[in-house]
Amino acid sequence: CRIRHYKFNVVMKNTTKLCSSKPIVTVNGLFPGPTVSAREGDRVLIKVVNHVKYNLSIHWHGIRQIQTGWADGPAYITQCPIQPGQSYVYNFTVTGQRGTLWWHAHILWLRATVHGAIVILPKLGVPYPFPAPDKEVVVLLGEWWKSDVEAVIKEATKSGLAPNVSDAHTINGHPGPVSTCVTQRGFNLPVDTGKTYMLRVINAALNEELFFKIANHMLTVVEVDAAYVKPFKTDTILIAPGQTTNVLIRANQESGKYLVAVSPFMDAPISVDNVTATATLHYSTAVPSSVKTTLTAPPPQNATALATKFSDSLRSLNSKKYPAQVPLEVDHSLLFTIGLGVNPCTTCVNGSRVVADINNVTFVMPKINLLQAHYFKISGVFTDDFPGKPKIPYNYTGTQPKNFGTIKATKLYRLAYNSTVELVLQGTGMVVPENHPIHLHGFNFFVVGRGVGNFKKKDRKKFNLIDPVERNTVGVPSGGWTAIRFRADNPGVWFMHCHLEVHTTWGLKMAFVVDNGKGPNESILPPPPDFPKC
Ligand code: C2O
Repeated sequence: CRIRHYKFNVVMKNTTKLCSSKPIVTVNGLFPGPTVSAREGDRVLIKVVNHVKYNLSIHWHGIRQIQTGWADGPAYITQCPIQPGQSYVYNFTVTGQRGTLWWHAHILWLRATVHGAIVILPKLGVPYPFPAPDKEVVVLLGEWWKSDVEAVIKEATKSGLAPNVSDAHTINGHPGPVSTCVTQRGFNLPVDTGKTYMLRVINAALNEELFFKIANHMLTVVEVDAAYVKPFKTDTILIAPGQTTNVLIRANQESGKYLVAVSPFMDAPISVDNVTATATLHYSTAVPSSVKTTLTAPPPQNATALATKFSDSLRSLNSKKYPAQVPLEVDHSLLFTIGLGVNPCTTCVNGSRVVADINNVTFVMPKINLLQAHYFKISGVFTDDFPGKPKIPYNYTGTQPKNFGTIKATKLYRLAYNSTVELVLQGTGMVVPENHPIHLHGFNFFVVGRGVGNFKKKDRKKFNLIDPVERNTVGVPSGGWTAIRFRADNPGVWFMHCHLEVHTTWGLKMAFVVDNGKGPNESILPPPPDFPKC
């Protein structure tokens, strides 16, 4: 195993997109940021130096961080921010994972421009469980606002209304030629006839679940969230913010140009589409003068059936070498309702503000990070009485459910080290029906079931305990539920939240504390000497 060293200089950079310029926060002046590459088993050291005026922290999304919770990154959960002029070395080992993950800022809305890919290759000499591609390409999907992103969310927080949607989707930083700004060059992927390519698709968008498709080319899905799946063919993939998907494509079409389309998925017709992003797949043998472009129509925004079919097709590879270790017995059985609500607000535009909650708790960020408070037994920072079930059971899928007031608190749920957990995530559709991509830090989990309507005990009979897909971020359907299982084999404090940034801001988040009962000092390594001060 090797040690990989990276230096992330966080600097402002004036950037032009959609024919207008603005300064953005970047790593090393790049948008998207640099790719972190490693092999399974490697140790990774990334020195982050903060040269901007914002407080910072960076999260290595999907990296398990076994016993290295201090390097996980979410601000006020596992660390205090790196202040302007300060630096911090994230130090972790890639254990038992290979595939595509990504990194992003985990404070304010800075991840809009501060993000990049993590590519983990298998151990030296270990092949992929599918035919090796001729070439691998990172495809990062994002969103672009012409205005300052921090100003967008500040304004929304003040007004109590939803923030403005972005002005464009991007593919590897490019809004694409379809945008109204004609000088804009789209992302171009050159291919050679007969070759196979593996696209490492990452959804780094703030607030949009996305469909991804390529004209005339089938996609073979081989991995999601750095876990192998049983390969299957599809013409469209659905990818939520936080998720990653590796697909194989074969350049087996007539020479020419083929459009790659990225478009939003919304269960309800509530979004104002911010333009389909496009790129082109360009055959190297295509003669420029005679080049023909094949277009593709993006799925409609409310293509729920397509989204469901795709999600249901995902199965763990579950081979001898990569068995799916699904917990068959459950120590903690939890039901979390997740959704949006409204709270009265005297200074807001409509007299109320949108809030989000889990089991009627709107999570309040503490002033010092939870992991430190746990490790050093600092009292008064959090309580560990997060409800394992909603207080009052009700019909979560009614069109106008009663608005249960939420309480604001910093509550954690305590899990015994190495216990097994079943968590049913029930979407409530309080204000508008919406999908919620829920992300759990520190673990991979198995998606054992999902359904429409209210979760019922008898739904357990239909759980897939053989080869459920293993991932770190899963969509909870609007007016429906998703059930996950995992083993709490990682001591520390682990954040769980909706990866739609606006919902996290509104409070759709909580954290688990996992310890071995002997006290945190025996299960977690001490914080590193350069650990940021609060
Ligand atoms: Cu990718 Cu807590 O997030």
